[in-house]
Amino acid sequence: MFKGVLFDLDGVITDTAEYHFHAWKKLADDLGITIDREFNEKLKGVSREDSLTLILQHGNKSDDISAEEFTRLAKEKNDNYVEMIQAISPKDIYPGILELLKELKAHDIKIALASASKNGPLLLDKMEITSYFDAIVDPASLAAGKPAPDIFLAAAKAVNIDIKEAIGIEDAAAGVAAIKASGALPVGVGTAEELGSDIALVPDTSHLSLSYLESVWKGN
Ligand code: BG6
Ligand code: MG
Repeated sequence: MFKGVLFDLDGVITDTAEYHFHAWKKLADDLGITIDREFNEKLKGVSREDSLTLILQHGNKSDDISAEEFTRLAKEKNDNYVEMIQAISPKDIYPGILELLKELKAHDIKIALASASKNGPLLLDKMEITSYFDAIVDPASLAAGKPAPDIFLAAAKAVNIDIKEAIGIEDAAAGVAAIKASGALPVGVGTAEELGSDIALVPDTSHLSLSYLESVWKGN
């Protein structure tokens, strides 16, 4: 049986993927760059800096932006995003997630956060679920972000399990690619169109439970 679950945060534990989209859209609009939900799929799971690079490329503006301006824009997006998440509370935890965390704890299965977001610890605190996590990977400590496997490998290591004994849960294509590359077993929250038809998928988090994860593991 698996010994640990490595969680993405934005779009898996709560609806912050939506806030990231709104904050990026506002920044892009101000720069005269149009981004839609389809383009946003490419940003999901991707670090703040890499997301800004993709947006500037999309708008053919990469060459117009100095290093200082790049840093300022990344900060502006984050300031706006942090303002948006201030009101997040335990009520915002996605359906089924708290129950899953409790079941995993009761069965001594390790729980780690593998989120690309530097706001992960703040969000866990706001939702009052920090104590469930045996480890939180600091994304700033990694050489490469998702779709590279680094964050999932670091998460498994932080809870002292082999990556082959872990399940990773993701809502983003970049995140699923990272889980696959790490050797953990991926479970996707979303559609086959977004995440591929070759992994276990649930349409939303209410379908996630210990017994569901066990059935995925056994069928693997
Ligand atoms: C990921 C999100 O979890 O974190 C991305 O899916 C986001 O949309 C990334 O860009 C980095 O987050 P932050 O909070 O450090 O800017
Ligand atoms: Mg996500």
